[in-house]
Amino acid sequence: MVKVGIIGGSGMDDPEIVDDATRITVKTPYGDPSSPLTCGRIKGVEVVILARHGHGHCITPSQVNNRANIMALKDLGVTAILATTACGSLKQEIHRGDLVILDQFIDFTRLRKNTFHDSFENGMVHAPMADPFDPDLRQLLFDTAVAQKARVHQRGTVVTIEGPRFSTRAESKMFRLWGGDVINMSIAPEAALAREAAIPYGVVAMSTDYDCWNEDEAPVSWEEVLKVFNNNAERVKALLIAAVAALK
Ligand code: ADE
Repeated sequence: MVKVGIIGGSGMDDPEIVDDATRITVKTPYGDPSSPLTCGRIKGVEVVILARHGHGHCITPSQVNNRANIMALKDLGVTAILATTACGSLKQEIHRGDLVILDQFIDFTRLRKNTFHDSFENGMVHAPMADPFDPDLRQLLFDTAVAQKARVHQRGTVVTIEGPRFSTRAESKMFRLWGGDVINMSIAPEAALAREAAIPYGVVAMSTDYDCWNEDEAPVSWEEVLKVFNNNAERVKALLIAAVAALK
């Protein structure tokens, strides 16, 4: 049976969206997930919802316990994960408010625990990571966004930086040369762990700013990210609800 984990998804745990919602607190061998989990049904599909940065956005990107988050969803029997994130645009044609269905990541984080396999005592594990995002979930998210008439890009490489600071102009220009399309602070380690846990994982990223590579634009600020994200959060929510319903 399908059971969808939703990570990020700001405002998704609204009791008006989730039927028979119950909030549970779980523990994993890797510690506590970022928030209590909201379990219930959306349009008849079982869901488990997790706030990546905690309720009240109090957990920094480096402190997010991605291992506990993914393991908690695995322990609850989740069969697919849909995640959302704000991102900066590294390409002129990706406008503020555009959606990007990620297909690749470049991991520029330094302090994250990004594997479940701290030791090879029980055998060697080298997870394949050539295509870290699930193709069926990507197609579903893209088709759903198109049906909702969103401005959406079918693919995109995300550079995930450590944060919480934003990039320097030199870094931002380098990420463009590397082939990055968008930039954020959370997706790469989360995607890698979902892959290790063998849970299909798809992301819809919402572009909120142009980072700082473009000298004609004011550099990104957190206020700008929040403003653009909040102005568009309802659209992302509607997209997730429709995508979950289509997984029935
Ligand atoms: N999240 C949203 N915009 C960002 C940016 N420019 N850099 C890193 N993370 C972001």
